[in-house]
Amino acid sequence: MEKKLSTESYKGVRDFYPEDFAVLEYIFTSWRKTLKGFGYEEYNASVLEPAELYRAKSGEEIVNEQTYTFTDRGDREVTLRPEMTPTVARMVAARRRELPLPIRWFSIPNVFRYEKPQRGRLREHFQLNVDLFGVDSIEADFEMILIASNIMKNLGVDEEKYEIKLNSRSLMDFMMQTVLGLSPEITHKLGKLIDRKNKVTRADFESEAELLCGNKSTAFLKFIDAPDLTTFQKALGTSHESFDHLESLIRRADDVGIENVVFDQTLMRGFDYYTGLVFEVFDKHPDNRRALFGGGRYDDLLSLFGGDKIPAIGFGMGDVTTRDVLETYGLLPKTLSVADVALCPLSFDFIPYAQHLAIKLRAEGARVSIDITGKRLGDQIKNADKKGIPFVLPIGEDEVKNKVFKIKHLSTGKEVEVTEDSLIETLTTKEK
Ligand code: HAM
Repeated sequence: MEKKLSTESYKGVRDFYPEDFAVLEYIFTSWRKTLKGFGYEEYNASVLEPAELYRAKSGEEIVNEQTYTFTDRGDREVTLRPEMTPTVARMVAARRRELPLPIRWFSIPNVFRYEKPQRGRLREHFQLNVDLFGVDSIEADFEMILIASNIMKNLGVDEEKYEIKLNSRSLMDFMMQTVLGLSPEITHKLGKLIDRKNKVTRADFESEAELLCGNKSTAFLKFIDAPDLTTFQKALGTSHESFDHLESLIRRADDVGIENVVFDQTLMRGFDYYTGLVFEVFDKHPDNRRALFGGGRYDDLLSLFGGDKIPAIGFGMGDVTTRDVLETYGLLPKTLSVADVALCPLSFDFIPYAQHLAIKLRAEGARVSIDITGKRLGDQIKNADKKGIPFVLPIGEDEVKNKVFKIKHLSTGKEVEVTEDSLIETLTTKEK
């Protein structure tokens, strides 16, 4: 006998059944609304990119262990995008002469990473990407914090529930190279170690640090353990422009009522292209230990494509962690209805009239579904209720003859009599 095909999806990716797709749509709609409110334009690109795009600056872990790369029929090495930043950098670089700066763009691509599937981590996810090109001042950095905070607000997540963590790559380089006198190579390796800090034991972290920086490891650990920005600065014993920068960002956020921005020197971010500010948004709930967003400044990435330097800053926010957080706090709408009204013909004979009525209502902008099963009215209503449709409208002989209907609001049980003309008004003005 022929072996039956499995109905399971590929490991680590999701099928989006309508109820899951509705959640995705809900999140996307909220993201789009927020970004449009900041004057950002939406773009997209193919999931396929030449593999070399990621080799230069994405970082070894992503390129060697996490990409889906294959050779096509024309012998080209192709990668399914593991992130959007190299793509958007390529797109902006290609039109650098025509595009007026600053460029404010966003996108919601699906991206692919060969990771061990676990809570908050899958092999395909959708990632909101927000990027601003052409401004290297604190104003652009501050705009990222404002957007991050506004995204969370529009999703209904209170400020006390999460933190926006900031660090600066240039500050960390200054600490390791200028203050501790370590080489750029060791600095790079220490950066990767700091990035893994929460994944290894304290003893392993200390011994790896000692292996990398010998007798400087005690001083290094003092920086890593500093509880706040002031203590970190004291340990440094000198001033550095990144301090003022980080301090100003925290103060300015506070000035507009955003009080959850904090300094965290253990925040490094895995990608090699970051040059200055790096930031992440963390939910404080113990079930959601992964970052919701991550991003930073990457002023040198566009130079890989030749031409003048274009400063850039941006972040990515995944749908998987977003959904986890919304579910944890019960912030997803209970039912995401598929239609405003279900027309319920009492027998097959009344379906043609229902179709005419539906055409009229749809032309007025209503979302209308017709029950074409020929089932009993009670079953039709039950079905509409299960789908979260707020109104039902039975159609029988009287309705067809008199064009007067009894429309029922399912959650309150209220019934009102309406004419064909006032139907649309009822559907659009009644609470749903
Ligand atoms: P990232 O930190 O790798 O940054 O990803 C950003 C966010 O995408 C994470 O905080 C997380 O929510 C989500 N994410 C990442 N990997 C996975 C996964 N395997 N499964 C589910 N969700 C995931 C970047 O990708 C940068 N390119 C962001 C950026 C834009 N930087 C500047 N502009």
